[in-house]
Amino acid sequence: MVSPGISLLEIDRFAENYAIKHGAKPAFKGYHSYPASICLSVNNVVVHGIPSNYVLQYGDIVGLDYGVELDGYFGDSAVTVGVGQISEMAERLIKVTQKSLELGIEQCLPGSRIGDISYAIQQYAEGHSFSVVRNFVGHGIGRRLHEEPPVPNYGHKGKGLKLEAGMVLAIEPMVNEGGHETVVLPDGWTAVTKDGSLSAHFEHTVAITKSGPKILTLPDL
Ligand code: CO
Repeated sequence: MVSPGISLLEIDRFAENYAIKHGAKPAFKGYHSYPASICLSVNNVVVHGIPSNYVLQYGDIVGLDYGVELDGYFGDSAVTVGVGQISEMAERLIKVTQKSLELGIEQCLPGSRIGDISYAIQQYAEGHSFSVVRNFVGHGIGRRLHEEPPVPNYGHKGKGLKLEAGMVLAIEPMVNEGGHETVVLPDGWTAVTKDGSLSAHFEHTVAITKSGPKILTLPDL
């Protein structure tokens, strides 16, 4: 649906109906009083943008973060996409963030540690001279949207909780063009970069199995 001229509220309405049509429940609506079914984070918004009547403009980037509950289990996933043609910098930021998620997912093996995921993401993003957000982290997920353990996007190889088959994690790097600092707006949700720079966000829900990581939120395209 992302294209110049569409409003964020239209996307939210679709997201809400889509879950319901499939017998699922939008996981975010009402969660700690969050007012919508999807988070839409434009340009300098890092995460948790509340869909408004803002109309997407050619050149914007927008993060779409969506979760549902189906048969008692939760899934949570995010992508960042460009609206029409975007700047080379924005393109690079999106590619690096997506790749950092892939590298984090590759670390999801029994016997590895949370810090291995964190380290892989941080190394790759900072190696491309971007910064990783610290004020928000990934999380365990399952019968609730947010479970233990926290999954930071920065940290040290070999540190943290040991991963075991059967664990399910929502891994969600948020990467900024400038500094890593964020500020939450007075609406209590919208997190923006402190320096006004662009930010991108990708997320998958990933199961740890004996045979390696299993991504549970791949879209059937
Ligand atoms: Co999440």
